[in-house]
Amino acid sequence: MDLTACFLISLITATMFLQVQCTKAVIGLYGQTIEVPCNNGAPKPDDLIFTKWKYDMEDGTSGDLLVKQAHKDEAQIKALDGYKYRVSIAANFSLMIQNGSMVDQRTFTCMVVYGSNLDEHRVSVSVYKMPLPPQIKDKAKELENGKLTPLGVCVAAAANPAAEIEWSKNGTLLVSDDKNIAITTTVTVDPTTGLSTTRSSLRYTAVKGDIGAKFTCSAKHYLQTQQSPAETFVIHYPTEKLSLQVLAKAPIIEGDNVTLKCKADGNPPPTSFNFNIKGQKVTVKDSDSYTLTSITRDNTGNYKCSLVDDSKMEASEKVVVSYLDLSLSPTGKVLKTVGDNLVVKMEQNSSGEAKVSWTKDNGKLDKVPTFERVTYSDAGFYVCEVSVPGLKRSQSFQLEVEGKPVINRLTKLRSEDGRHKVLICEAEGAPQPSVQWSINGTDEESSYINGKAVHKITVVPSGNLTVTCFVTNKLGEIQGYKCHNLAPGWKFGPG
Ligand SMILES: *[C@@H]1O[C@H](CO)[C@@H](O)[C@H](O)[C@H]1NC(C)=O
Ligand SMILES: *[C@@H]1O[C@H](CO)[C@@H](O)[C@H](O)[C@H]1NC(C)=O
Ligand SMILES: *[C@@H]1O[C@H](CO)[C@@H](O)[C@H](O)[C@H]1NC(C)=O
Repeated sequence: MDLTACFLISLITATMFLQVQCTKAVIGLYGQTIEVPCNNGAPKPDDLIFTKWKYDMEDGTSGDLLVKQAHKDEAQIKALDGYKYRVSIAANFSLMIQNGSMVDQRTFTCMVVYGSNLDEHRVSVSVYKMPLPPQIKDKAKELENGKLTPLGVCVAAAANPAAEIEWSKNGTLLVSDDKNIAITTTVTVDPTTGLSTTRSSLRYTAVKGDIGAKFTCSAKHYLQTQQSPAETFVIHYPTEKLSLQVLAKAPIIEGDNVTLKCKADGNPPPTSFNFNIKGQKVTVKDSDSYTLTSITRDNTGNYKCSLVDDSKMEASEKVVVSYLDLSLSPTGKVLKTVGDNLVVKMEQNSSGEAKVSWTKDNGKLDKVPTFERVTYSDAGFYVCEVSVPGLKRSQSFQLEVEGKPVINRLTKLRSEDGRHKVLICEAEGAPQPSVQWSINGTDEESSYINGKAVHKITVVPSGNLTVTCFVTNKLGEIQGYKCHNLAPGWKFGPG
């Protein structure tokens, strides 16, 4: 910077003349070497005798700093104060002041003596210093919605001249309107360093939209404008909407724990809530939840929550509990005599339409089993399963059918080679009866399926012989006989 202020000085002496004395202005940087040029760095006159630098002292008098004789290499330091160690003269007669500080803000005079002339060139020095990076201090913990609240103080310390502070929100300048935005600025000067600190306090009326807004301040200075790190603030605002959440896996089934959570959109959220549990008011403190443990079908209904201090702020939600009852008769082990009647009764009660399915020994049945007269083939493991979404119930019975043995048929066949007879005794009975022929044979075969026993032997025909089939179980016995050679016709008889 190169500013020159010219003063018109009138000197009235015996002969009146005008002298225009110009004071050049230079700016130096704090902490660095300040160059004070002599006569704008004009070349030195040929008949130079000496150059002297002086300065204006606080008391208004002038003090010598150094003198440089034209014919000598070294300048002679005249200063007695702190300048003694800080000043030197450059080849072009500039005064060089090391480690510039606020005390150097004064006027220096370069005196050039040559031939029979004496010129004086006055230079006023300003020392500039950029402030430390600005910072937002005394930050508000939170901002109250709609209320003018001190937000923070922006500090730009140790500058010269003092920095100018501006506040911005999301990059937009904030201007004091003394209603929603109030900015007050103070500048203090450190008595030791002479540097200025600017403090700007912002009071701000936040709205809900200011959540996440970035506040910054910038310190404007001749040398550079610096910006503070951005700050965001917690905004406090009242609840406008309430919602009730039902926390449970769907569908809710009997025995589940169901948590009702009341959510308020205010910040900070309320710390207590009223829950309306089927007409009964429950106040929950330091929590937003109420848990219904081991819920039952009777808990189905509407639930509500509201603010403790504003019962009109309310939310409600429906809770539907799924249930499923199944009752089957008979269950467990069922023992029936063949030909008996068995009535199967299944009752179910559920929250929705239930699916019913029957299996017998793991095979699917098309319809509900009915037994007007039980047969041996009805014996088996019956399972009834009913289900609604999320729930499944099943019950079962094991049907056992028993009966005295009965001979259904006695058969005599000619064997394939024509030389033997095959005798077949077919009987029924449960538990499994023992089946025996009265004569020994070969190729004995027997089977027992669904209460039907078949016993087969091969014999060699020999003379007149009565053969008998004996069928026995714990419930009784029966026998059938046949006179072997008297075909056709078997005779049956009990024992
Ligand atoms: C005077 O000399 C110094 C040091 O050599 C140099 O930095 C400066 O620019 C010069 N000033 C003028 C006005 O010529
Ligand atoms: C059948 O054979 C057994 C021994 O193998 C014998 O003890 C029995 O007497 C025989 N019965 C008839 C009817 O031949
Ligand atoms: C076989 O028995 C029948 C009747 O018991 C009898 O009439 C017949 O004579 C007998 N035959 C022989 C060969 O023993």
